[in-house]
Amino acid sequence: MEMPPPPWIVGHRGAGGEAPENTVESFHLAVKQGADMVELDLQLTADGSLVAFHDRDLHLLNQEAVPLEGLSLDQLADAVFLDRRGKKRRGDSIPTLAKTLATLPVDLPLNLELKRYGADREALVSALDREIAGREQLLLSSFDWDLLALVRQRLPGRPVAPIAKEAADALLDAARELEAYSVHCDWRMARHNLVHQARAAGRPTLVYTVNQPDLARRLLARGVSGLFSDHPGRIRRQLEMAET
Ligand code: G3P
Ligand code: MG
Repeated sequence: MEMPPPPWIVGHRGAGGEAPENTVESFHLAVKQGADMVELDLQLTADGSLVAFHDRDLHLLNQEAVPLEGLSLDQLADAVFLDRRGKKRRGDSIPTLAKTLATLPVDLPLNLELKRYGADREALVSALDREIAGREQLLLSSFDWDLLALVRQRLPGRPVAPIAKEAADALLDAARELEAYSVHCDWRMARHNLVHQARAAGRPTLVYTVNQPDLARRLLARGVSGLFSDHPGRIRRQLEMAET
C-alpha cells in the first residue's frame, strides 16, 4: 500500500452517512470529499460474484429476509428490498466489485472488507483473485481470520488486516501470524496498549466508526493512524479546524 503520512480518513462504506452505503454514488462522494482510503463491504453471490453489501440478509418488501449469499447475480439484480434506512432499493443498485473497480481511480487506496456469512472460503478467494488481478492499492480485511490466512496463501503479497471488536491480544497475535499490514478494530478497543504494541510491530491501527471530532482527536492522540468515518469530508474539516 502506498499511503500518505497518517492520520488517514477512511470513507466507511463510501460516505455511508451521506449517500446509500456501499454504492458507487457513496464511493464517489467519499473520493470527492478527499478520503485517503475508501472502505467497502464485499460478499459472494451464489454464482461467484463479489458485490458490495454489508448485511447478511436482504429485507424484501414482503418482509421476507433472504441471505444475499444464496442469490445469483441475476436474482439479486431483480430483487427489491428495504435498505437500512427503510428506503426501497433495487438489487441492481448493489455494485459488483468489477464495476466498483472500473469506476474508481486506479491509484485510490481501497479497503475491501471481506464479509463471509456462510460462503465457501475457497470460492470467495478465487473470485477475489480473478476480480482484483492487475489492481494494486487494495487492502483486504476481514473479521474472518481463517479467510485472511487463505488469502495470504493464495494471493501472497496482497496486504491484509484482521478486524475485531473485542480481545486485543488475539487481534495482535492474528496480525503477527498473518504478517498483516495493519490492525483494524472498534474504536472502543483501541486502548494505548493495543495501539502501542501494534505500532511497535510496525502496524498502524485503524478504528471504526468515528463520526465525532472530539472522539477522533482523542483516538489520534492515542496513536491511532486511521479513522473509518461515515462523513469523511466533515470529520477532516473538523480536525483541520481544530489545528488552526
Ligand atoms: O472495516 C471496518 C468496519 O467497516 C467493520 O465493521 O460492520 O461496519 O463492516 P462494519
Ligand atoms: Mg465494513
